[in-house]
Amino acid sequence: MDFSTLCIHGCGNKYDTTGAVSIPIYQSATFSHPGVGLSTGFDYSRLQNPTREYLEHTVAKLENGLDAIAFSSGMAALATLMELFSPGDHIIATHDLYGGSHRLFSHVSKKNGLTVDFDDTTDVRNILKSIRAETKAVFIETPTNPLMLVTDISAVAGICKENNLLLIVDNTFLTPYFQKPLLLGADVVIHSGTKYLGGHNDTLAGFLVVADAGLSERLRFLYKTTGACLSPFDSWLLIRGIKTLPVRLERQQETAIKIAKWLLNQKRIKAVHYPGLPDNPGYEITKKQTSGFGAMLSFETDSEETAHQMLERVSLIQYAESLGGVESLITYPILQTHADIPEKDREARGIGNRLLRLSVGLEAADDLIEDLNKALNG
Ligand SMILES: Cc1ncc(COP(=O)(O)O)c(C=O)c1O
Repeated sequence: MDFSTLCIHGCGNKYDTTGAVSIPIYQSATFSHPGVGLSTGFDYSRLQNPTREYLEHTVAKLENGLDAIAFSSGMAALATLMELFSPGDHIIATHDLYGGSHRLFSHVSKKNGLTVDFDDTTDVRNILKSIRAETKAVFIETPTNPLMLVTDISAVAGICKENNLLLIVDNTFLTPYFQKPLLLGADVVIHSGTKYLGGHNDTLAGFLVVADAGLSERLRFLYKTTGACLSPFDSWLLIRGIKTLPVRLERQQETAIKIAKWLLNQKRIKAVHYPGLPDNPGYEITKKQTSGFGAMLSFETDSEETAHQMLERVSLIQYAESLGGVESLITYPILQTHADIPEKDREARGIGNRLLRLSVGLEAADDLIEDLNKALNG
């Protein structure tokens, strides 16, 4: 079945007998049992809920996984995933990373006795150099937030298999519509479902998707024990969002390419980071491992003042954190998404005061370009 048909029909509505075309929101905390020791398959909504299960089975199919677990946010998914590890374990993570993931690794994981090394995973040799006896996993974000750096997933998967490491891939930016990490050898896919999967800037969600039954069992145990589950209503919003994922992404990508090209021709823009531009260092790997470049980009202005001016002057595009929704958003990573990364690390990675990140929404490309033009040159 084609991906777009799967997005519409999901795993099939086996939960309802009324013929409802839209899956009902089973707003129930608990479920009665037909007899002693018997269950309908649903006991308590922290463990299972029909609306959420429909969503989970759908996301598992979209990612070619065996199981998908829906969390109340992307960070809840990551925090639960980290419970797989024990004090003394070592993890290698991409150095350019969503600031919240970096914060979790450097504070919460550290407090729990884990060590996380941040490496430039675009060169997989850096991973090989960092592996030690205690290393248990490699965590990559590709493309990265905010610099859009691309890591070769199959190459890292090869290294992980040889060294018996778990490969975790944050697939938030491209979604399974453009990139399927499990098919490239990853063990766990993580999502901020708040972004493209939800798609409307109206709800938070997160996912862990796995292809292995043992891993699924361990994560399900942690899930029911720690409890950061997605509510029935938010599950329904995600189901609704996913129905239009392919059409949204196609159109958002088309507009992102136009905007990236326009930015390249602006005197006051000094660099454009978008893997869909042929001279981007991640262009060839992106072509090899994905079916699209996505709709996220970042760019560097000629000065801090120009960056501030753009943030203050955009009117259609909103100056706000987050990404992946129908409304275009512009973000200042240094003060927002990446504010908690120590300044010297940020500077070393190129996240400075001239860097802006743009999440291209579904407005007309000409309107967005006019808005950017007024903000930059007006
Ligand atoms: C790449 C990436 N991963 C994870 C997260 C965390 O997700 P959430 O905000 O849903 O907790 C974000 C949030 O911006 C993100 O951009």
